[in-house]
Amino acid sequence: MEETYVYDYLVIGSGIAGLSFALKASETGSVAIITKKEDKESNTNYAQGGIASVMSNLDSFEFHIKDTLNCGAGICHDDVVEMVVKSGPDMIRELVESGAKFSMLEEDGMDSYDLGMEGGHSKRRIIHAKDLTGAEIERALIARVREKENIDFFENHIAVNLITDRTISSKPVVPKRVWGAYVLDTINGGVMTFSGKITFLASGGAGKVYLYTSNPDIATGDGIAMAYRVGAKVANMEFVQFHPTCLYHPKAKSFLISEAVRGEGGILRLANGEAFMKKYSDMAELAPRDIVARSIDEELKRSGDDCVFLDITKREASYIKDRFPNIYETCKGFGIDMTTDPIPVVPAAHYMCGGVVVDKEGKSSIEGLYCGGEVTMTGLHGANRLASNSLLEAVVYADRAAASARKELATIKENPPKIPPWDPKDAVDSDEEVVISQNWDEVRRFMWNYVGIVRSDKRLERAMRRSRSLHKEITEYYWHFTITSDLIELRNIALLADMIIRSAMMRKESRGLHYNIDYPDKDDKNFHRDTVLVREDWE
Ligand code: SIN
Repeated sequence: MEETYVYDYLVIGSGIAGLSFALKASETGSVAIITKKEDKESNTNYAQGGIASVMSNLDSFEFHIKDTLNCGAGICHDDVVEMVVKSGPDMIRELVESGAKFSMLEEDGMDSYDLGMEGGHSKRRIIHAKDLTGAEIERALIARVREKENIDFFENHIAVNLITDRTISSKPVVPKRVWGAYVLDTINGGVMTFSGKITFLASGGAGKVYLYTSNPDIATGDGIAMAYRVGAKVANMEFVQFHPTCLYHPKAKSFLISEAVRGEGGILRLANGEAFMKKYSDMAELAPRDIVARSIDEELKRSGDDCVFLDITKREASYIKDRFPNIYETCKGFGIDMTTDPIPVVPAAHYMCGGVVVDKEGKSSIEGLYCGGEVTMTGLHGANRLASNSLLEAVVYADRAAASARKELATIKENPPKIPPWDPKDAVDSDEEVVISQNWDEVRRFMWNYVGIVRSDKRLERAMRRSRSLHKEITEYYWHFTITSDLIELRNIALLADMIIRSAMMRKESRGLHYNIDYPDKDDKNFHRDTVLVREDWE
């Protein structure tokens, strides 16, 4: 049965950005949070490392700004970097007030944060909760959200499309404003209308575009795809961050070995025990992620081995078990004792530095649509994200977007326009679900093989040909068959793949996470800028 839900704020996604925004927005209006699985299932929940913030007098904003800019390879937006870094300490205090418990040290009777170290950082500044930082933040924020009477949580609901003035108008206008979303109830079926005066997209990243990823199954780029489809500006999609160290084991799916393991002394070794990172960077294991991932890729291509090894056995067993309880137990479950054995690891897709372009208030280029977290391209990360800057960015932008959205809501006097119910057209139930799994696998495979850590013009052209024909097939399938969450996600990852390939083809240089062997150098004269995509095929 068709239903319409009417709220002041519609929040899509329940990670740190969505929950933080919902809590702050709920001060002035009703909020619906829709999320694809159970409440805590988000990329945030899997974040092991932590949140980067200047919290010690051995550190300074200047150092954190410099590290972020170095990592971003010349195209971070300086004003955004400064704003985010300087907001860090206040955001950490707010998270603590919300109930998040971070790892502490006690020295001379005084408590201070146990600041961790990660690649690309010149100082210890990672606030963490052992190796389960994201899960602790989710726990605390969900508890706060559940206390609020004017926030409704819709689990097992996936957004299909954003609703705009084009959806409502009888004419095919180019969209200017978002009024909510059509949402599929994945348990009971049926597409409902969620009307929101303000929509906040915070549905996370798109690691599932690649065959191997550290991300959970939900990371299918839904927010970026939906925003692009309604005409929002998207940028820097070529900058996909590959995390250097995911567990390599036939039964381990997507398990990350936190960068903090290298931060606390882990050494990368070949199968013969040789440490190799010093060959590639003076910073060795603590070089920025693009360098470490590319170095591993080169070593694996040269040796033909399946993986390299991360060795932290020089640290005391008791330290390892206390600092990395989750990684220790998970590895042990796969028969690897990290206190005595090096851990087999490979790089895997981890984080999208590109996304929906937003201003410093989290506003996209389409009215009524704000975004936060991995969905966005704020200008903070440039061509490569500094480790643990993402949770910081998410919480800062949720805060700023909520402040701006609350002001905007106060100016919206009229009710949202009457929205037509979801129109399934002539769609029938699919008798060939295999088309979905086949196409899903194909996208992820050609993206891994042709648009991965090392790219070339020829590989990108091959990927583009595959992407174009798949895109057509998937679009036709989408209009003929009743939608399911698998079909919605497939349509989204296919669009994300297309955007990543197009952006990579436009950047004819190598910078940060985008490395093309046909243009191995940085070209500041032509490419010292963001790569912007905007939909143009309006009929
Ligand atoms: C990690 O723990 O290595 C992930 C941290 C991040 O991606 O910022």
